[in-house]
Amino acid sequence: MLTAKNKMRTGASLVIALLGLMIAACSLSSPTPGRVSAHAPNIDTVPYDKLGASIRLGRKLVQATPIYARRYTGNELSCADCHLKDGTQANAAPFAGLSGDFPAWNQRAGRVITLAERIEECFVRSENGRPLPADGRRMTALLAYMQWLSRDVPAGKTVQGRGFAPLPPPAAAPNPAAGQHLYRVICAACHGPQGGGQPPRIPPLWGPGSYNQGAGMNQIATMAAFVVRWMPANQPGSLSPQQAYDVAAYIHGKPRPKLAPQYRSY
Ligand code: HEC
Ligand code: HEC
Repeated sequence: MLTAKNKMRTGASLVIALLGLMIAACSLSSPTPGRVSAHAPNIDTVPYDKLGASIRLGRKLVQATPIYARRYTGNELSCADCHLKDGTQANAAPFAGLSGDFPAWNQRAGRVITLAERIEECFVRSENGRPLPADGRRMTALLAYMQWLSRDVPAGKTVQGRGFAPLPPPAAAPNPAAGQHLYRVICAACHGPQGGGQPPRIPPLWGPGSYNQGAGMNQIATMAAFVVRWMPANQPGSLSPQQAYDVAAYIHGKPRPKLAPQYRSY
């Protein structure tokens, strides 16, 4: 039989045990609940087996998309031109954690989509290409690479710096004429006076080698958010938010491929 004293002791030890569990749980999770950093595991730790080969192919596909997925790519862009550092850079749409973030609701599609479907979306729009076969070795490789990058991200957690850190709306309406001036002075040296870039080293920003009108980068706010943080590549962070909006508005007015009507549902 439990005496009153014993009961109290049991109660107290239960509280201590619970506290211990809570402390253990806290030290296991990130400092900010629900957010973990987008650090990438070391590529040298990928084993030399079948899965390892697939992960490595996935990384190559991200680094040199027009070479490793030529038939499915309709332009000169690689995933890593936008998903910087092979998809491992926070605030440049990193891939870490995505394996646990999908399936997810997709605003554009108006339904829940898988990670494979989200990848197709970038092939069809950002790569101005066509969907990869869902069960082919390339899609398997991209999913394996993203899963490997997601290895240390607990299920249900989103990484810090997912997507491109959104920029608050500009103080004044974006001014394409001011953007043209900036483009000529700052961007043209690398991306070319006609926006064609120097692929594969420097990606085109408009024209036939660029992303199509359905791509996320074709939104002024998305490009401004990318540019203010990452461009010019030799001096990132040197533009004001207003300048980033202005140059994005200028580039937005330039010609680029149309999204093929048969791929609108992607
Ligand atoms: C021209 C730039 C560009 C290229 C090239 C590009 N993407 Fe994207 N990608 C984007 C943008 C913009 C988004 C939307 C990010 C956001 O929601 O903030 C995105 C989002 C994604 C997402 C979802 C990210 C998330 O957090 O939900 C995946 C997965 C993805 N891209 C895969 C790829 C793959 C694989 C390739 C190469 C085959 C590729 N992308 C090429 C611009 C690009
Ligand atoms: C020193 C060369 C250099 C300069 C200057 C430069 N860029 Fe880039 N840009 C790059 C490279 C290289 C990439 C590919 C990503 C990477 O490796 O950093 C890139 C990628 C981009 C992308 C994403 C890929 C795409 O095709 O959409 C955009 C947008 C962009 N730059 C816009 C600009 C703008 C706007 C300016 C001027 C304010 C600028 N860049 C100046 C080298 C440069």
